Amino acid sequence: MAEKPSRLPPVRPAASAALSNHAAGRIDRLLAAMTLEEKLGQLSQGRTGSLPPTGPETRKPFDDLLGEVRAGRIGSILSPHGAAHINSIQRIAVNESRLGIPILIANDIIHGYRTIFPVPLGEAATWRPAVVEQDAHIAAAESRAEGTHWTFAPMVDVCRDPRWGRIVETSGEDPFLGAVMTAAKVRGFQGRSLAAPDAVLACAKHFAAYGFAEGGRDYGTVDLSIETLHEVPLRPFLAAARTGVGSIMTAFNEVNGVPASGNRYILRDVLRRDWGWNGLVVSDWESTLEMIPHGFAADEKDAARLSLLAGLDVEMSSTTYRDHAAALLAEGSLQMPLIDQAVRRVLEAKEKLGLFDHPYTDEALAGRVVLSPESRAHAREAARRSFVLLKNGNANSPAPLPIHHEVRIALIGPLADNPRAALGTWAGFGRDEDVVTIKTSLEQEPGVIVHAAQGSNAQSPLSGGIEAVEAAIADSDIVIAVVGETDAMNGEGLSRADITVPPAQMEVLAAARRAADARHIPLVVLLMCGRPLALPWIAEHADAVMVIWHPGIECGPAIADVVFGRAAPSGRLPVSFPRDVNQVPVFYNHKSSGRPFKPHERYVNRYLDQSNEPLFPFGFGLGYSTFTYSAPHISHAATSTDGSVTVTMQVHNTGAAGGTVAQLYFQDPIATRTRPVRQLVAFEPLDLNADETRTVSWTIAADQFAFYSANPGGVDEGWVVEPREIRLFAGGDSTTKASTSLRLTGLRRTGIAPPSP
Ligand code: NOJ
Repeated sequence: MAEKPSRLPPVRPAASAALSNHAAGRIDRLLAAMTLEEKLGQLSQGRTGSLPPTGPETRKPFDDLLGEVRAGRIGSILSPHGAAHINSIQRIAVNESRLGIPILIANDIIHGYRTIFPVPLGEAATWRPAVVEQDAHIAAAESRAEGTHWTFAPMVDVCRDPRWGRIVETSGEDPFLGAVMTAAKVRGFQGRSLAAPDAVLACAKHFAAYGFAEGGRDYGTVDLSIETLHEVPLRPFLAAARTGVGSIMTAFNEVNGVPASGNRYILRDVLRRDWGWNGLVVSDWESTLEMIPHGFAADEKDAARLSLLAGLDVEMSSTTYRDHAAALLAEGSLQMPLIDQAVRRVLEAKEKLGLFDHPYTDEALAGRVVLSPESRAHAREAARRSFVLLKNGNANSPAPLPIHHEVRIALIGPLADNPRAALGTWAGFGRDEDVVTIKTSLEQEPGVIVHAAQGSNAQSPLSGGIEAVEAAIADSDIVIAVVGETDAMNGEGLSRADITVPPAQMEVLAAARRAADARHIPLVVLLMCGRPLALPWIAEHADAVMVIWHPGIECGPAIADVVFGRAAPSGRLPVSFPRDVNQVPVFYNHKSSGRPFKPHERYVNRYLDQSNEPLFPFGFGLGYSTFTYSAPHISHAATSTDGSVTVTMQVHNTGAAGGTVAQLYFQDPIATRTRPVRQLVAFEPLDLNADETRTVSWTIAADQFAFYSANPGGVDEGWVVEPREIRLFAGGDSTTKASTSLRLTGLRRTGIAPPSP
């Protein structure tokens, strides 16, 4: 890869304020006093169970871990939970280790600690960064009160392949939406000061391009152009860096032939040099070691050398640094300043968290903070904001939602009363008993009779299930089916080649459709899932379809609010929903081709037997009202390549009060590097009263239209903005046609700061 001049876009110092002189001096003194073993200890992350040991088989490993803490052989620990338990570990670090350096406690707090919010894909479907920031803030307050200092979140990978199980943890397919959500989560987790009792050190992961695994198989190879790398997967990481994220985790995958955990280009050249980011880099679970089966490191010692040279500071779970760095130093493969710099970053994180001065957690705090009524209320709001209504009646059948009281509901499907599925993957310390299921909530609605029938298991038939469904429908006025994926059908290591609702559940739906038809009553499908599912049959045969993701602990109340019309659905798809898996990848911001699709033509970019278009496009979602969107208006027909323009649009709510999202896309039709057919450049979530019109206005810098130019003729130009015609599209989803043209004039600018956020 060609060298390019150093560019330093504005990056906030990692994890808020710079250190005080007192703190910086303390770090210098510690570094001067530390043995090599103690230094390497700070670069090692140990692991344990979440709770104190209960028997001899867990006692021994835990005692060994405490021995390591005492000896200063580990600097952080993954997984322990509970203020008292963590304080007891901390006391050993502070009082019994030679230098008394406090230990850093890490956990995967992804979409809530105990108050569980929608899975990240659902959070992104809100298109409301303020809601998502508050989710992260509550998660931070709860987890810090229970002793955690460091969360391995936000997960900021961009993903275009719904087969990948971890798409559930992403904000979907768009780098701009992803960047906005990333910044919101970093703000929410880290607050204004990491030393505050309601803040945790955030960790943007997985650096980089983990979501681009071949075939959507987890941990798979990633091979993509440098341009796409910068424009798509790296963009949310840059947003994290600019927001001051304190740490970044390397990915398991390779990036263009070099495993991420030993990749000097992404870690040193991009992250440190070009972005000027100075936080802490941690490996993923043993990802240094995994460079051996990748075929990149010869052995453990080589893995340690490659990761340290690439700029990876802390090793999670594996111990190659601890075991081999001394030999590497002795033979001259590594120099001590490199180790010192990594250790300094760990100590700086501990200083910023205030751990040297306040190493312990107030053990009374959790009782006041965790699972508070306010947090539950926010979880309910976040959940209902995440629901995306895909269909609600059509020309031949009236909209079945919202429904009214005095109704008999046949509530069917295996997910209507399944708390674990409602929590979703990576549900922190969420508990089944905290979840209010859909069945519980609907049964509590006044005047409502619920006839519940599970019908099937998530992935297998249930004896007598179909008959029970038919019986429930025989005595009901409406059918609500809750189907889709359990928490165990998406997430890490859970890629699927078949992204449909499993056959056992489809049989239940088919039987329900027949029984509902016989009674002339509607079938409403609530789709619980952590990925886009291919659902042509459901979209055609259900009267209403709403994607509810895995909504978290307030699943039932949020559904009841929306189903009974106390709130209107306002979520929008953060990812395209394909017609079938054979279309994958199908995403809105694709390139054009020299032979773009034309109907009825053979030699064009198409399938013989399938549309190119997804079933539901990015940005799409319905409400209980209809919104109209004006074409975009621009303040000036032209602006220079270093100027800006104000874009306005009007959104009118033609019906009852409700929410929508005003969306602005652009296309750069002719450029020195081909550009996507359109790209999201701004959006604004809105709540409008009946018949209200709102004018939305954005000031867009010409830099926002920039693209990455890696290697035309051997020169890496970095981010480039060209004097060209730009087309702007405004509307309610990514297929909007309403547009206007903006001329960018003046010089072609290269090496500019990447677009925001
Ligand atoms: C592996 C996962 O990839 C990562 O996201 C997580 O933070 C670590 N395990 C620690 O649990």
